[in-house]
Amino acid sequence: MTFAIDARGLEKVYKGNVAALAGVDLDVKAGDIFALLGPNGAGKTTLMRILTTQFKPTSGEAHIFDLDVVRDGAEVRKVIGYVPQETSVWSDINGYENLLIYAKIYGLPSRSRKDVIHDMLESMGLRAPAEHLVKTYSGGMVRKLEIACAMLIRPKILFLDEPTLGLDPAARIAVWEKLVSFKEEFGTTVFFSTHYMDEANAYSDEVAIINTGRMVTSGTADELKHSLRGELIKFSLSDHRVDEHTLGRIRGLEPVKSVVVTDSTLNVTVEDAETALPCVMDALRSEGIPVERITTTKPTLEDVFLWYAGTTRAPGAASSIGRVEGKAGGTRRE
Ligand SMILES: Nc1ncnc2c1ncn2[C@@H]1O[C@H](COP(=O)(O)OP(=O)(O)OP(=O)(O)O)[C@@H](O)[C@H]1O
Ligand SMILES: [Mg+2]
Repeated sequence: MTFAIDARGLEKVYKGNVAALAGVDLDVKAGDIFALLGPNGAGKTTLMRILTTQFKPTSGEAHIFDLDVVRDGAEVRKVIGYVPQETSVWSDINGYENLLIYAKIYGLPSRSRKDVIHDMLESMGLRAPAEHLVKTYSGGMVRKLEIACAMLIRPKILFLDEPTLGLDPAARIAVWEKLVSFKEEFGTTVFFSTHYMDEANAYSDEVAIINTGRMVTSGTADELKHSLRGELIKFSLSDHRVDEHTLGRIRGLEPVKSVVVTDSTLNVTVEDAETALPCVMDALRSEGIPVERITTTKPTLEDVFLWYAGTTRAPGAASSIGRVEGKAGGTRRE
């Protein structure tokens, strides 16, 4: 398997003794879309700056397609594109001129520059406003222009630090359609950080969560959601009291992990609501307990984030959920 990113024991201590990374291990498969999640100050931008050769790690090492980010910096820069958290285009010139400057910085041959820029403008839907000053662009257009600049050299891997921050839902979808098309057309690996859980859920092949400079978990979004090991089924019981005998019976059912009763609701935590529901319903029916309404809550990626990196527990997350053993503390290496 080819790894686009392979990092071991990355540490970064800034001046003033701020430990931003405290031993990060990371594997990103080539061609994957990889989401890096973590609270403010967790170390996402620091990690991205090290991987894009802007900062040296204090210790540890990282490779981009087997090139060492410290020793082979110049070679690494030929295969990466980077869209930073802050704006990276000039607003007092037009879109085409921005691309031209980046094309020169990247050393694109002068004979092919125009064609490459026009292709990129077309592909990002920026052909019409190409001659307009960037200061007249919307936030979504600016982000698309920045991605166009980063894609000029058709990088093998594109790093994006919060690519859709502040964009409206339609603009976010438009940006993601482009990023997914780069993966599909050119096999571009996409490594991005975000605070939008829905984007990580919808677009990533793999997700990692970083907290206080340490990777705390990783996996596909589904694996992480399942790792919380619990879906909650709520049975609304219309004034009916559940006696100890019935409670004991439900607790004893094989798929049931825990049962909590409030005044008129029976909250049952199970691994998989779909398979467990018929058997809990059978038990309630045979005890003559009428059920008014049933709702099921599956863990979301937001629950996962709060569980691994938050200070509060998500409302839908049942109290019996457990950390997935052996996963926290580092990403996997196959
Ligand atoms: N140049 C710097 N000098 C000193 N400390 C820094 C520097 N850059 C970042 N830090 C500190 O390092 C830690 C990690 O910061 P970083 O910007 O990597 O976090 P982040 O996960 O990207 O946060 P956000 O979600 O807010 O963008 C923070 O404590 C931050 O204050
Ligand atoms: Mg950041």
